[in-house]
Amino acid sequence: MFHFFSKKLFLKDLLEGFVDIHNHILPGIDDGAKTVHESIDLILSLKELGAKEFIPTPHVMQDFYPNTDETIGDSYGRLLEALNKTKLLSEVTINPAAEYMLDDNFEKLLKTKDLYTLKKSYVLVEISYFQPPLNLEDIIFDIKTHGYLPVLAHPERYAYYHKKLDYYKRLKQLGCFFQLNLLSLTNHYGNNVEKTAKRLIEENLIDFIGSDVHNKNHVMKLSKSTISNNKIFDSLKQVIRNTNTVFSVT
Ligand SMILES: [Fe+2]
Repeated sequence: MFHFFSKKLFLKDLLEGFVDIHNHILPGIDDGAKTVHESIDLILSLKELGAKEFIPTPHVMQDFYPNTDETIGDSYGRLLEALNKTKLLSEVTINPAAEYMLDDNFEKLLKTKDLYTLKKSYVLVEISYFQPPLNLEDIIFDIKTHGYLPVLAHPERYAYYHKKLDYYKRLKQLGCFFQLNLLSLTNHYGNNVEKTAKRLIEENLIDFIGSDVHNKNHVMKLSKSTISNNKIFDSLKQVIRNTNTVFSVT
């Protein structure tokens, strides 16, 4: 049936019970929340949109955010201590993981240490925005050989792949999972990212969704964002459902 007045579809309407597998809500250890106060504010505002489980994923990036088990554990501890004074802890779950840059440090970690996983063997990884890694296919193979399942954060944000749909398909064939950012479906990161995000959704190449929230501005944008294409909205609904099913711990 043809609708003259199609209903506005809000992104936030898909977020009831959302398990957010990518965000920077841990305080003071990367470019996300700076203080415990900011962390709690982000959790509260995401909860208002429907999110109920959080897997914070601070950057582990040798050159900029050299986070370790200790820095992540300490930041998480400070957040828990503050949350204990509120009733929030009984309403949401928070289990930290990490977003690993595929740099030299990561390759060392992979060999010598346990990685923080999102759940089970899923490890969230990112690559440079400026240039493709020379050996991405080898690294994916290596991650899998060590028993982990690589989840590439926001594949739609790597401009050098935008015109290479076949390469995205190749990475999927190698066993890489794709996590899309919610705000990539708006013009937040620019038109080319939005176009690629929609294309990847249409091609059924996206496995999981994350907010990648760093600050309150991101949550404000999320709360106002709409999707004009019903088909994309429906596919997105499926991907969010899949994300919740795979990563929920409750
Ligand atoms: Fe991130």
